[in-house]
Amino acid sequence: MDNLAFHKPVLINEVIQHLAPKDGEVFLDATFGAGGYSKAILNSANCHLYAIDRDESAKKFAAVLEKSFPKNFTFLRGKFSDSEKLLAEKNVTELDGMVLDIGVSSMQLDDKSRGFSFDSEARLDMRMDQQNPFSAYELVNEFAEAELAKIIKEFGEEPKAKQIAKKIVIARKSSPVTSCRDLAEIVRSLYRGYSKTDPATRTFQALRIFVNQELDELKAALAASSNLLKKGGRLVVVSFHSLEDSIVKSFLKKEAGLDQTFSRYQPQSNCDNSHKNFHVVTKSAIAPTAEEIAINPRSRSSKMRVAIKL
Ligand SMILES: C[S@@+](CC[C@H](N)C(=O)[O-])C[C@H]1O[C@@H](n2cnc3c(N)ncnc32)[C@H](O)[C@@H]1O
Repeated sequence: MDNLAFHKPVLINEVIQHLAPKDGEVFLDATFGAGGYSKAILNSANCHLYAIDRDESAKKFAAVLEKSFPKNFTFLRGKFSDSEKLLAEKNVTELDGMVLDIGVSSMQLDDKSRGFSFDSEARLDMRMDQQNPFSAYELVNEFAEAELAKIIKEFGEEPKAKQIAKKIVIARKSSPVTSCRDLAEIVRSLYRGYSKTDPATRTFQALRIFVNQELDELKAALAASSNLLKKGGRLVVVSFHSLEDSIVKSFLKKEAGLDQTFSRYQPQSNCDNSHKNFHVVTKSAIAPTAEEIAINPRSRSSKMRVAIKL
């Protein structure tokens, strides 16, 4: 699907308003996806936009923008934790703005063969980068019960993590847990009665986060933003669940010198908040409007935080 017209980027107006692109500026869209943000940035000003995605399938969307904006757009395939290195290879060391739209894309979720969706017969996979040899299949079928339970608890905040891990290990003794549906059924069998969301949601989220090392990637990208953004540079981060948002929130709090936590064993004079790297624009996160949620229900859990480099 090369059609960018049908793609609905989340909080797009707010992203552009806060990135505020101007002619001659340089931007990074670190999570290119189908290029929704990239296209809007390029349409807002005569700027240069670098875009990163680790997913090979993003290349076909990048080709569309390369054709429309041959002088203003450069796609870089890779991980956003490597932003500094990937940009340095293009002789870019400073940015006026950087945007991150964390998580899995609609295209990745909707392509059943990618093994992200619990309603699919596809092999468990969940890799954003399909060249990575480690997928959800290896995780589910090779990891020890205690490790599985820890991952499901930590990254899925799943109350029945131990029981789920135990059931997975019992099931795989007779034959490997192969498809997404097989795994979803194992989780569902531990839940009875009505629930608004599928009980498998939390387990799938946990495995996906682990397979793609999503939280470590986010921490590394935030650290890179501090090095890459020039004074006055804008950082915009859109996230979709509380684990991600709390990483963004605590990073910004610390970088803005607002982190008041200190050890009672530490002399207060060591609690130095004078070194501030960012000014936080969004005191509380920006959420989508009711209109946006009605048009694009997937936007409902999104949160956007914005900061300016000092
Ligand atoms: C939510 S989508 C972004 C959608 C995009 N804003 C748009 O308008 O089309 C997230 C994208 O980021 C990519 N991604 C996630 N983690 C990444 C990482 N650590 N490094 C590079 N790309 C990553 C995914 O492959 C996915 O395509």
